[in-house]
Amino acid sequence: MTVLTVVGARPQFVKAAAVSRELRREHEEVLVHTGQHYDEEMSDVFFDELGIPEPDDNLGVGSDSHGAQTAEMIAGLEELIAAEEPDAVLVYGDTNSTLAAAVAASKMDTELAHVEAGLRSYNREMPEEVNRVLTDHAADLLFAPSRRAVENLRAESVAGAVHDTGDVMFDAVLWARDRAADHSTVLDDLGVDPGEYVLATVHRAGNTDDPDRLAAVLDALAADPREVVFPAHPRTVERMAEYGLREDAEECITVTEPAGYLDFVRLQDCADVVATDSGGVQKEAFFLDTPCVTMRGETEWRETVEAGWNQLVGADSEAIRRALATAERPTEKPQPYGDGDAAARIAELLSDV
Ligand code: UD1
Ligand code: UDP
Repeated sequence: MTVLTVVGARPQFVKAAAVSRELRREHEEVLVHTGQHYDEEMSDVFFDELGIPEPDDNLGVGSDSHGAQTAEMIAGLEELIAAEEPDAVLVYGDTNSTLAAAVAASKMDTELAHVEAGLRSYNREMPEEVNRVLTDHAADLLFAPSRRAVENLRAESVAGAVHDTGDVMFDAVLWARDRAADHSTVLDDLGVDPGEYVLATVHRAGNTDDPDRLAAVLDALAADPREVVFPAHPRTVERMAEYGLREDAEECITVTEPAGYLDFVRLQDCADVVATDSGGVQKEAFFLDTPCVTMRGETEWRETVEAGWNQLVGADSEAIRRALATAERPTEKPQPYGDGDAAARIAELLSDV
């Protein structure tokens, strides 16, 4: 069978790499990049490091308003689906690339399969929440990373078939952890020692596009007595400059380009604590036994909070400082996201299409 995979944004390259390795053992895969992320360090570096073949097509859509960006992707994907006639279209997560592929596939006679189905923040102001809800309701096959995700889908009575596969990002981290330890020189390059620094990322629109929230986050990070390593998303760099926050931040924080995946896994593995508003980084910190402070009001990955490994603090400067100062490794860690074999299970379930 032929599976047409659609990716476009950084976390999707990581997830698709894990699945692609398994999928290509038995099936044909046509890999389509929408071009949503296009900078070398937001895109190419993942293809180089993760051993995924180059995309068969790149729609080159780039950045735009949500509607214009999504519409251009839908038009391009419709043409490709018509030309390739795949048995299934495979999508990941909750970006505009995910939604565009879901719309394109569901308008054609093509099965739609969604990896990371059933995640909910219950905050409809997040563009990602709308993307994932719409995608789940269009999907024929829903691959949920946890029991809770399955329950969320059942509560919404989705029409497609729901499978609890575990989380493909767990597979990805298991693949990368030792490779990163063997090959990454990032700690030496940045001059930081294991266990002695805070690793931070911020890119969620709710934080970056509000000057007060972004300033509160940066103030809290700058106040931490440890080194703070901050590989900054291009959107965050733009906003920091626009709001006049960049110079002050850079006095106290090591702001770097976005890191490659192996370097980033190494940085997470060795950090004393991670501070983030990313979905994927919350989970990876958990898989790598590093406590996390999440600078958002809610999370889709509630199991990490319930297990005591993740503190939800919003963008409140004082709350972030306190959480960073008090973050500890709990003595126990449950395994709510499967066994690290989600990709193989997904590849097998796709055989039934
Ligand atoms: C997108 C996803 C978000 C995901 C994130 C992963 C949507 C709605 N959002 O957010 O769910 O968590 O990717 O990182 O799909 N830019 C560049 N170079 C790039 C890419 C982006 O400079 O290679 C800048 C542009 O100014 C662009 C801005 O970043 O306007 C935002 O990019 P976009 O892809 O729209 O959203 P993200 O914030 O990256
Ligand atoms: N990541 C990376 N370099 C960075 C920041 C993140 O390789 O500088 C990886 C990270 O390991 C994870 C994914 O990108 O696999 C998370 O992407 P992001 O935080 O952009 O998006 P989200 O998960 O919030 O959708």
